Amino acid sequence: MNPSSSFISRRGFLGKSLAGTGAGLVLGAPSILRAANADGSDKIHVAIVGFGKQATVLFESMKNIPGLHFQAVCDIWDYGRKAGMQKIRAHQGHTPKGYSDIDEMLATEKGLDAVVVATPDFWHSPHTVKCLEAGLNVYCEKMMSNTIDGARAMVRAMEKSGKLCQIGHQRRSNPRYRYTMDKLINGNKICGQIVNINGQWNRAVASSQDIGFNPKLTIPQDVLTKYGFKDMHQFMNWRTYRDLSGGPISDLGAHQIDIFGWFLGVAPKSVYASGGNDYFKKREHFDNVMCIFEYDTPQGGVRAFYQVLTTTSAGGGFWESFMGTEATIKISEIASASSINREDSAPPWDDLVNRGILKRSAAPPKPPPSADVVASYESAPPEGFELPGGFNKPAHQPHLENFFAAVRGKAKLNCDARHAFESEAPIYWVNPSALRGQPIQFTSEHLSV
Ligand SMILES: NC(=O)c1ccc[n+]([C@@H]2O[C@H](COP(=O)([O-])OP(=O)(O)OC[C@H]3O[C@@H](n4cnc5c(N)ncnc54)[C@H](O)[C@@H]3O)[C@@H](O)[C@H]2O)c1
Repeated sequence: MNPSSSFISRRGFLGKSLAGTGAGLVLGAPSILRAANADGSDKIHVAIVGFGKQATVLFESMKNIPGLHFQAVCDIWDYGRKAGMQKIRAHQGHTPKGYSDIDEMLATEKGLDAVVVATPDFWHSPHTVKCLEAGLNVYCEKMMSNTIDGARAMVRAMEKSGKLCQIGHQRRSNPRYRYTMDKLINGNKICGQIVNINGQWNRAVASSQDIGFNPKLTIPQDVLTKYGFKDMHQFMNWRTYRDLSGGPISDLGAHQIDIFGWFLGVAPKSVYASGGNDYFKKREHFDNVMCIFEYDTPQGGVRAFYQVLTTTSAGGGFWESFMGTEATIKISEIASASSINREDSAPPWDDLVNRGILKRSAAPPKPPPSADVVASYESAPPEGFELPGGFNKPAHQPHLENFFAAVRGKAKLNCDARHAFESEAPIYWVNPSALRGQPIQFTSEHLSV
C-alpha cells in the first residue's frame, strides 16, 4: 500500500482531512478466512496470546460472537494459561492447546485464522508481526507498541502480508461513539464550531497502587528473563516501566486522544506536556500528565487539553468533552458519564427531538435566575439532551464483532493498524515533551510510518 494513501504521509501530513475515508475509518485489507475448514464448517479458528486481565474481558465478549472456535492459548505464566484454558473449556466443551511460547504455537498449530494478542505493550509488535508473517489475521490490544518504531513495524507487516490487523481502540466500533460522530457532530453539526476539547482519565490513588502477586504462583526466573521481565514485580507492574510501556499517557490516554483526532478528522500540529512523579516517586513513568494538543481544522483552530492523573478520581473518572459554540458533547465509555448540552443562545433543537435524533434529558429543568449572580456576563445555563438509546453491548464486543466480520469478508475494519498508528503517533511524543519541558511542533518525521 502506498503510505501517502493515508492522511499522514512523509509529505504534507498536517491538516489533511479523514473525510475521504468516510471518517469512520472503515478501511482494511480484503478478507481472509481460509477457503474451507476440513469439517466443512465456517468456524473461525482463534488463538489467544497473553491470557491476563484484558484477554479475560475480551473472551467474555467473544463468547457472545457465534462461529468462533478457540483452538490455542499462549501465555508464559502457567497460572494465566491454565485459567484461560479452563475458561475456554467451560465455554466450548473441550480444552484448547496450551503453549508458553508463541514461536512454538505458530510452528505447531495448523488451521488458525486469527490471533488475539493481549500481552504487555512491549510484546505487541513482535507478536503481531510474527502472526501476520505467518499468514494470520490479528486483533491486537492498544497501545500498538511501547515505541513508535514498534508501531511502524506493525503497519508495514499488515500491509506487506495483506492480512487484517485490528487495534483494540474499541470506541471506534462503539455505537454511541459512532452515532455521536456521524449523526450529531458531522451530520447535524449540533456543536456548531468545535473550538476546545477536554478529556481526562483520573483514577483514585487506591486504584493506582502496585499489583501484588501470590508467592505460590511465581514464574521461574529463567522464564521471566527470557521474556524480558527482571522480576515478578516488573511482570505484574509492567505498565510502570519505561522499557515495557508508555506509562499512563499511553495506557489510558491512548483511548481518548484517539477520539480527539477521530472526531476532528485531522492530526494535531503540536503537543505541549507537563508530567511528574508527584506521588509515586519511585515509578519510572510520570504518575500525572497534563498536555495540550493543537489542531488546525477546516473550521478553525482547536485546542485539546488532556490529563491522566493516578492520584485522584476527581472529575468523575474518564470522558471526552467536545466544546462548541452551540453545544458541548461529553462522551464516555460509561454511558452515565455522558451528556449533551445545548447553549441557551443556539437555535432550538425541537426538530432533532421530533426526528428522534436526540431526546430531551430527564434532568431537572433550568433553575430560575439566581440572586447570587456574580457577573453580568454570566452564561445562561445550557439545556440537557441525551441519545435516543439502544446502544448497550459490552464495551469490547462491537469491535471484536467488526474484526471477525472482516475475517469473514463481511465488513471492513474500523481501526486497522494504519489508522490506529495515525491516532497513536502523537501520543508517543507526550512523554518526550514533558521530559524536555518543551512543546513539540509535529513534522512528518514525528507522525508518519
Ligand atoms: N482496550 C482496553 O480497554 C484495554 C484495557 C486493559 C488492557 N488493555 C491492553 O491489554 C494488554 C494486556 O493488559 P492486561 O491488563 O491484561 O495485562 P496483564 O499483565 O494482566 O496480562 C498480560 C498477560 O500476558 C502474558 N504474557 C506476558 N508476556 C508474554 C509473552 N511474551 N508471551 C505470551 N504471554 C505473555 C502474561 O503472563 C499475562 O497473562 C495491554 O496491552 C493493555 O494495554 C486494553
